[in-house]
Amino acid sequence: MPLKASVLIAEDETQAREALRALLEDEGYRVIAAADGVEAAELLEQSAVEAAVLDIRMPRKDGLTLLREIREMPSPPAVLIMTAYGNSAAAIEAMALGAFDYLTKPLNFDELLIQLGRAIENRRRAGELEAYRREEDSWQGAEIIGDSPAMQKLYKLVGQVSATDSTVLIRGESGTGKEAVARAIHRHSRRGGRKLVKVNCASIPETLLEAEMFGHERGAFTGAAQRRIGKFEYAAGGTLFLDEIGELPPSTQAKLLRVLQDHSIERLGSNITIPLDVRVLAATNCDLETAVHDGRFREDLYYRLNVVTVSIPPLRERREDIPELAAFLLRQAAARLKLPAASITDDAMALLSGGTWPGNVRELEHCLERALILSRSGVIRREHVSLSENPEAGDPLDAVSLDEGLHDAVARLERRMIERALASAAGNRTRAAEILKINRRLLYDKIREYSLE
Ligand SMILES: Nc1ncnc2c1ncn2[C@@H]1O[C@H](COP(=O)(O)OP(=O)(O)OP(=O)(O)O)[C@@H](O)[C@H]1O
Ligand SMILES: [Mg+2]
Repeated sequence: MPLKASVLIAEDETQAREALRALLEDEGYRVIAAADGVEAAELLEQSAVEAAVLDIRMPRKDGLTLLREIREMPSPPAVLIMTAYGNSAAAIEAMALGAFDYLTKPLNFDELLIQLGRAIENRRRAGELEAYRREEDSWQGAEIIGDSPAMQKLYKLVGQVSATDSTVLIRGESGTGKEAVARAIHRHSRRGGRKLVKVNCASIPETLLEAEMFGHERGAFTGAAQRRIGKFEYAAGGTLFLDEIGELPPSTQAKLLRVLQDHSIERLGSNITIPLDVRVLAATNCDLETAVHDGRFREDLYYRLNVVTVSIPPLRERREDIPELAAFLLRQAAARLKLPAASITDDAMALLSGGTWPGNVRELEHCLERALILSRSGVIRREHVSLSENPEAGDPLDAVSLDEGLHDAVARLERRMIERALASAAGNRTRAAEILKINRRLLYDKIREYSLE
């Protein structure tokens, strides 16, 4: 470990306490030690430690009571609990209260050192994530943009489900903001100050998914060299977001169903049941009903997840949100790329508003980022906007409104093509006429007509 941490030891037996102190100091830790729970609580108030190793049975205040208090601290240390051999009830309670792990007495010092290192590393990583999330939230304004009637209906539903603990299935095409909605539900729920942990069911190889979700004991399978807690345990007290739930393999579907029914998990390779208080949000862009019908998705799990459905409409069905969204996403992109703020011409905005956006808000986001980079001047014009990664695939009608009339729409297209041909021929009119497959005479006429000289 590159950076050794401060650790609190709470142990009433003097010999055991001093042996632990010597061990940890030898390893380079800075150690403070307490002889009972009350002294430990006082020391914790005065000094910031990254980890605490607590005995369960101590005078004045026992280890589990202390652990409860620690959980309420603003930046709690990682906790390892020491239990007498065979006291599995206390061990389970310690895990449920958020201890990183428990060690049975007599202590195996090697195991203690390994677990302590892991607990501290885990806490540091969680701290980084927390800081990252705060940063992310602050510059995103933590808001979902859009005032269309469809979105207002959605906000109302999000507010209602936030107040409950029920499982929510979030549905919508790719890029509509399913993860953004999951974050909003979590943030507005009573768990808002706790962790929001995400598992992407599609991106983790099938063989690793269960270990990722439920954790495993040492030796549970080949390669499981250490005990590891899973995402469910990691999310204890908070919310677990299961993204792309439609991709869950059948065996994992069965396990997940059991966890949702029992509100408890078992790590792979263990038969200790750990009770858990975790709220589950799931998201999918696939047609779960068909998957159920085809036998690819368990019907019982479908009903378990689908207590409440939040459906996010595709962007093309709420085009009135596009101007506000575009302005917001553009500000975000400018901040991210450290570029000055930019504006969008009415003409370019009309083009954006007319798009079909098969990739929804994410596609709009990418489109604006490209436009921002291309524009340089800080003004985004029509020519900086390309509506799709693959323009040939788009319907040219998407860029046109019927109100414009055939004559004007065709004229606009004609003008754009001539501009583009002249640009790619570097102003050489003979070459441009060849590109356009028209004669030079006609090109000259058109250049005059559209005042392109
Ligand atoms: N209403 C909104 N207001 C502001 N930003 C939004 C909104 N909807 C989506 N976004 C942004 O668009 C991007 C895509 O959203 P998100 O990742 O939540 O979509 P998704 O539905 O989970 O997509 P996928 O199915 O591809 O995973 C994100 O950067 C998100 O912040
Ligand atoms: Mg997503």
